[in-house]
Amino acid sequence: MKKDIQIGYEYFKNSSELNDIEKKLFETAKQARENAYAPYSQFFVGCAVLLENGEIFSGNNQENAAFPSGLCAERTALFWIGANFPTVKIKKIFVVGGPKEFHEKNPPIPPCGACRQSLMEYETKQNENIDLYFSSMNEEVVKVHSIKDLLPFYFDATFL
Ligand code: THU
Repeated sequence: MKKDIQIGYEYFKNSSELNDIEKKLFETAKQARENAYAPYSQFFVGCAVLLENGEIFSGNNQENAAFPSGLCAERTALFWIGANFPTVKIKKIFVVGGPKEFHEKNPPIPPCGACRQSLMEYETKQNENIDLYFSSMNEEVVKVHSIKDLLPFYFDATFL
Protein backbone atom coordinates (compact mmCIF):
# COMPACT_ATOMS: atom_id res chain seq x y z
CA MET A 1 0.00 0.00 0.00
CA LYS A 2 1.44 3.33 -1.00
CA LYS A 3 0.87 6.32 1.24
CA ASP A 4 1.88 9.93 0.88
CA ILE A 5 2.76 12.66 3.30
CA GLN A 6 1.90 16.18 2.28
CA ILE A 7 3.36 19.25 3.85
CA GLY A 8 2.26 22.81 3.43
CA TYR A 9 4.55 25.79 3.52
CA GLU A 10 4.44 29.47 2.72
CA TYR A 11 6.78 31.08 0.26
CA PHE A 12 7.62 34.79 0.30
CA LYS A 13 9.29 36.04 -2.86
CA ASN A 14 10.60 39.00 -0.93
CA SER A 15 10.94 39.88 2.73
CA SER A 16 8.83 42.98 2.10
CA GLU A 17 5.85 40.56 2.17
CA LEU A 18 6.58 39.73 5.82
CA ASN A 19 4.69 41.37 8.68
CA ASP A 20 6.44 43.66 11.19
CA ILE A 21 7.48 41.05 13.74
CA GLU A 22 8.68 38.72 10.98
CA LYS A 23 10.74 41.55 9.49
CA LYS A 24 12.26 42.26 12.88
CA LEU A 25 13.20 38.60 13.29
CA PHE A 26 14.74 38.57 9.82
CA GLU A 27 16.85 41.64 10.62
CA THR A 28 17.88 40.21 14.00
CA ALA A 29 18.91 36.91 12.38
CA LYS A 30 20.94 38.76 9.74
CA GLN A 31 22.69 40.75 12.45
CA ALA A 32 23.42 37.60 14.46
CA ARG A 33 24.88 36.03 11.33
CA GLU A 34 27.51 38.78 11.28
CA ASN A 35 28.91 37.40 14.54
CA ALA A 36 28.97 33.76 13.47
CA TYR A 37 32.26 32.02 14.17
CA ALA A 38 32.71 30.00 10.99
CA PRO A 39 36.40 30.12 10.04
CA TYR A 40 36.39 26.53 8.70
CA SER A 41 33.28 26.37 6.54
CA GLN A 42 33.00 30.09 5.76
CA PHE A 43 29.27 29.40 5.89
CA PHE A 44 27.58 31.92 8.17
CA VAL A 45 24.25 31.26 9.83
CA GLY A 46 22.26 33.43 12.22
CA CYS A 47 18.89 32.92 13.82
CA ALA A 48 16.41 34.89 15.89
CA VAL A 49 13.94 33.35 18.31
CA LEU A 50 10.71 35.00 19.47
CA LEU A 51 9.43 33.91 22.88
CA GLU A 52 5.82 34.10 24.05
CA ASN A 53 6.71 37.01 26.33
CA GLY A 54 7.80 39.04 23.30
CA GLU A 55 11.51 38.78 23.96
CA ILE A 56 13.80 38.03 21.02
CA PHE A 57 17.09 36.16 21.36
CA SER A 58 19.58 35.24 18.70
CA GLY A 59 22.29 32.72 17.97
CA ASN A 60 24.83 31.86 15.31
CA ASN A 61 27.01 28.93 14.33
CA GLN A 62 30.09 28.32 16.44
CA GLU A 63 32.74 26.15 14.82
CA ASN A 64 35.73 24.35 16.24
CA ALA A 65 39.09 23.06 14.94
CA ALA A 66 37.84 19.63 16.05
CA PHE A 67 34.92 19.86 13.62
CA PRO A 68 32.18 17.91 15.45
CA SER A 69 32.67 20.06 18.53
CA GLY A 70 31.06 23.05 16.83
CA LEU A 71 27.35 23.83 16.84
CA CYS A 72 24.74 25.20 14.44
CA ALA A 73 23.08 28.58 14.95
CA GLU A 74 19.69 27.07 15.79
CA ARG A 75 20.94 24.80 18.55
CA THR A 76 23.22 27.50 19.97
CA ALA A 77 20.12 29.68 20.46
CA LEU A 78 17.74 26.89 21.50
CA PHE A 79 19.99 25.43 24.17
CA TRP A 80 20.72 28.84 25.63
CA ILE A 81 17.00 29.62 25.79
CA GLY A 82 16.28 26.16 27.22
CA ALA A 83 18.90 26.77 29.89
CA ASN A 84 17.72 30.25 30.86
CA PHE A 85 13.97 30.25 30.19
CA PRO A 86 12.94 26.62 30.61
CA THR A 87 9.23 27.40 30.98
CA VAL A 88 8.80 30.15 28.40
CA LYS A 89 7.33 28.99 25.10
CA ILE A 90 9.02 29.58 21.76
CA LYS A 91 6.72 31.13 19.15
CA LYS A 92 8.92 31.65 16.12
CA ILE A 93 12.43 31.03 14.88
CA PHE A 94 13.96 32.72 11.84
CA VAL A 95 17.12 31.30 10.26
CA VAL A 96 19.33 33.12 7.76
CA GLY A 97 22.39 31.47 6.27
CA GLY A 98 24.79 31.49 3.39
CA PRO A 99 28.40 31.58 2.34
CA LYS A 100 30.41 34.60 3.37
CA GLU A 101 30.62 35.77 -0.23
CA PHE A 102 26.92 35.92 -0.81
CA HIS A 103 25.47 35.41 -4.31
CA GLU A 104 22.00 36.45 -5.43
CA LYS A 105 21.23 32.84 -6.38
CA ASN A 106 21.85 31.37 -2.93
CA PRO A 107 18.61 29.62 -1.94
CA PRO A 108 16.91 29.74 1.48
CA ILE A 109 18.93 27.59 3.91
CA PRO A 110 16.84 25.05 5.84
CA PRO A 111 17.89 23.71 9.27
CA CYS A 112 20.04 20.57 9.23
CA GLY A 113 18.64 17.25 10.40
CA ALA A 114 20.13 17.46 13.88
CA CYS A 115 18.64 20.92 14.38
CA ARG A 116 15.24 19.69 13.22
CA GLN A 117 15.38 16.97 15.85
CA SER A 118 16.33 19.50 18.54
CA LEU A 119 13.60 21.88 17.40
CA MET A 120 11.10 19.01 17.59
CA GLU A 121 12.11 18.36 21.18
CA TYR A 122 11.18 21.91 22.20
CA GLU A 123 7.96 21.90 20.19
CA THR A 124 6.94 18.64 21.90
CA LYS A 125 8.02 19.90 25.32
CA GLN A 126 5.92 23.06 25.09
CA ASN A 127 3.00 21.27 23.40
CA GLU A 128 2.57 24.13 20.97
CA ASN A 129 3.77 24.66 17.42
CA ILE A 130 6.80 26.74 16.51
CA ASP A 131 6.68 28.76 13.28
CA LEU A 132 9.95 28.29 11.46
CA TYR A 133 11.21 30.63 8.76
CA PHE A 134 14.33 30.16 6.69
CA SER A 135 16.02 32.35 4.16
CA SER A 136 19.28 33.19 2.52
CA MET A 137 20.41 36.79 2.30
CA ASN A 138 18.57 37.23 -0.99
CA GLU A 139 15.26 37.97 0.77
CA GLU A 140 13.33 34.89 -0.37
CA VAL A 141 11.71 33.28 2.67
CA VAL A 142 10.12 29.88 3.36
CA LYS A 143 7.83 29.41 6.38
CA VAL A 144 6.56 26.20 7.91
CA HIS A 145 3.90 26.24 10.60
CA SER A 146 5.38 23.43 12.68
CA ILE A 147 8.69 21.61 13.03
CA LYS A 148 6.70 18.44 12.26
CA ASP A 149 6.42 19.68 8.69
CA LEU A 150 10.20 19.48 8.35
CA LEU A 151 10.53 16.11 10.00
CA PRO A 152 8.12 13.43 8.79
CA PHE A 153 8.28 10.22 10.85
CA TYR A 154 9.88 12.17 13.69
CA PHE A 155 11.15 10.35 16.72
CA ASP A 156 10.10 11.73 20.09
CA ALA A 157 9.64 10.75 23.72
CA THR A 158 6.37 8.89 23.02
CA PHE A 159 8.45 6.02 21.60
CA LEU A 160 10.56 5.63 24.72
N1 THU B 1 24.80 25.35 9.98
C1 THU B 1 23.95 25.98 10.83
O1 THU B 1 24.36 26.81 11.66
N2 THU B 1 22.63 25.68 10.75
C2 THU B 1 22.11 24.73 9.91
O2 THU B 1 21.00 24.29 10.10
C3 THU B 1 22.92 24.32 8.76
C4 THU B 1 24.39 24.35 9.01
C5 THU B 1 26.23 25.63 10.10
C6 THU B 1 27.04 24.49 10.67
C7 THU B 1 28.41 24.81 10.13
O3 THU B 1 29.05 25.73 11.03
C8 THU B 1 28.14 25.52 8.82
O4 THU B 1 26.79 25.91 8.84
C9 THU B 1 28.38 24.65 7.58
O5 THU B 1 27.70 23.45 7.68
